[in-house]
Amino acid sequence: MAIHFSWHQGSLFLVFCFLGFLSFPADAAVKKYQFDIQVKNVSRLCHAKPIVTVNGMFPGPTIYVREGDKVLVNVTNYAQYNVSIHWHGLKQFRNGWADGPAYITQCPIKTGHSYTYNFQVMGQRGTLWWHAHILWLRATVYGAIVIMPKEGTPFPFPQPYSEANIVLGEWWNSDIETMVNQANKLGLPPPTSDAHTINGKPGPLFPCSEKHTFAMEVESGKTYLLRIVNAALNDELFFAIAGHNMTVVEIDAVYTKPFTTQALLIAPGQTTNVLIKADRSPSRYFMAARPFIDAPIPVDNKTVTAILQYKGIPNTILPTLPQLPAPNDTNFALSYNSKLKSLNTPQFPANVPLQVDRHLFYTISLGQNPCPSCQNGTQLTASLNNITFVMPKVGLLQAHYSNINGVFRTDFPDRPFAQFNYTGAPLTANLGTSLGTRLSKLAFNSTIELVLQDTNLLTVESHPFHLHGYNFFVVGTGIGNFDPKKDPAKFNLIDPPERNTVGVPTGGWTAIRFRADNPGVWFMHCHLELHTMWGLKMAFVVENGKSPEESVLPPPEDLPPC
Ligand code: C2O
Repeated sequence: MAIHFSWHQGSLFLVFCFLGFLSFPADAAVKKYQFDIQVKNVSRLCHAKPIVTVNGMFPGPTIYVREGDKVLVNVTNYAQYNVSIHWHGLKQFRNGWADGPAYITQCPIKTGHSYTYNFQVMGQRGTLWWHAHILWLRATVYGAIVIMPKEGTPFPFPQPYSEANIVLGEWWNSDIETMVNQANKLGLPPPTSDAHTINGKPGPLFPCSEKHTFAMEVESGKTYLLRIVNAALNDELFFAIAGHNMTVVEIDAVYTKPFTTQALLIAPGQTTNVLIKADRSPSRYFMAARPFIDAPIPVDNKTVTAILQYKGIPNTILPTLPQLPAPNDTNFALSYNSKLKSLNTPQFPANVPLQVDRHLFYTISLGQNPCPSCQNGTQLTASLNNITFVMPKVGLLQAHYSNINGVFRTDFPDRPFAQFNYTGAPLTANLGTSLGTRLSKLAFNSTIELVLQDTNLLTVESHPFHLHGYNFFVVGTGIGNFDPKKDPAKFNLIDPPERNTVGVPTGGWTAIRFRADNPGVWFMHCHLELHTMWGLKMAFVVENGKSPEESVLPPPEDLPPC
């Protein structure tokens, strides 16, 4: 049996095929989506420009699935750029072919070509998101992924009356790819964005925004679930709603111990689900987001707003603004992050690796390499353990799977070449990095602890790190230099937050643990697009296990060639 129905946008369609009697559990389904990558003229802040979209929508369509579903997303590229789409946070067990980062797990989909991302959603429920994973195209090519729990399995929190997606983004008035190319020629960063957006809309604090304001209607006394995604390219954001507290219940598609907060902090790549209760005097209230930045770095500091509107309240009522933490409120950031804890119940356990097979220590640095044609004769760069990652010309997963030599090396060092005072006074000499496509090889099913250490080369800064193919546990974090003698004693090995993207604090460190039980090649990078572009990235090669069930699946036939 198959039920077909069409979506409001014509070319997006959804098919549910109930194949329970074949190989899936009784309620598993196949959900099919068609993503047409197409250029469309869009106007914001009184500036119109052509942008790359999925199905002409900005942001793109939401993917709705249930835990256990198979998903087929056929992506057809009608734009002038090569594209690939990443399903951010989906674990893609043995199935890196569907992960999406260009030149890591696939070659990009060329203009006029298609590729079907074929995956199953297993052991995850909540909010994730998808985005383009090549160039800076994710500035406009992104959308939410909603994973409902299995039929009959309730949320471990009060059932909301209704829900809404709050997808935070950034908008530039000029063409982004052009700006990025010009900046790279000079060896400098491109300009910061002109606005932040909520569901693609900057809200009434910006010009020409009457039509570009997101509003959500609520009924007095009811509870709502907000699925908040930070799809911004370079900005960690505070978010708050005037007059309303939020109860955090899930991050990165993992349930948390609920806690109530006036404002939340969300880094690029992260998702946060909150419950809100419409229990204030019926009126209109602003939701707002603006960056958190506690380093001397230029940032788009403008505030995006949307409206929480009680039913029956006229649009003429002026909404009140929420109180957001100060832009440099480090204490709020540290205290907010320290409240995040895994739910850790028998049904949703936190399986933290207690014993570690391999300890990794990676320093995060900015740097400067010679560039004779650049403005200052140098170009800004970024590195892990002083290695700036060089993108290969063929997909790394394919090179690994087919044993193609000469594409990458597996000698990424477990610790930096030299120890130094990582977070002391700013270091402005010896800013050069070494270049290479160097990966770290992990034994199947080994347990890994990775300490990510920020450094003060040029400047300290906070870096949201994302690991593909896995969730990890954030067992510890601190300001200054990680102390391998004292800090591990303070690790939370009971209910640490489990997620796929974690902020390494400005001038500090974060320790994560995971079990390398997903074979393949998995990208790890800073989710600030600027830093990814500058080389703040590397990849793990996780070896196959002994059995075929522990080995990388064969590549799909339509995998794009290079
Ligand atoms: Cu959301 Cu490799 O990224």
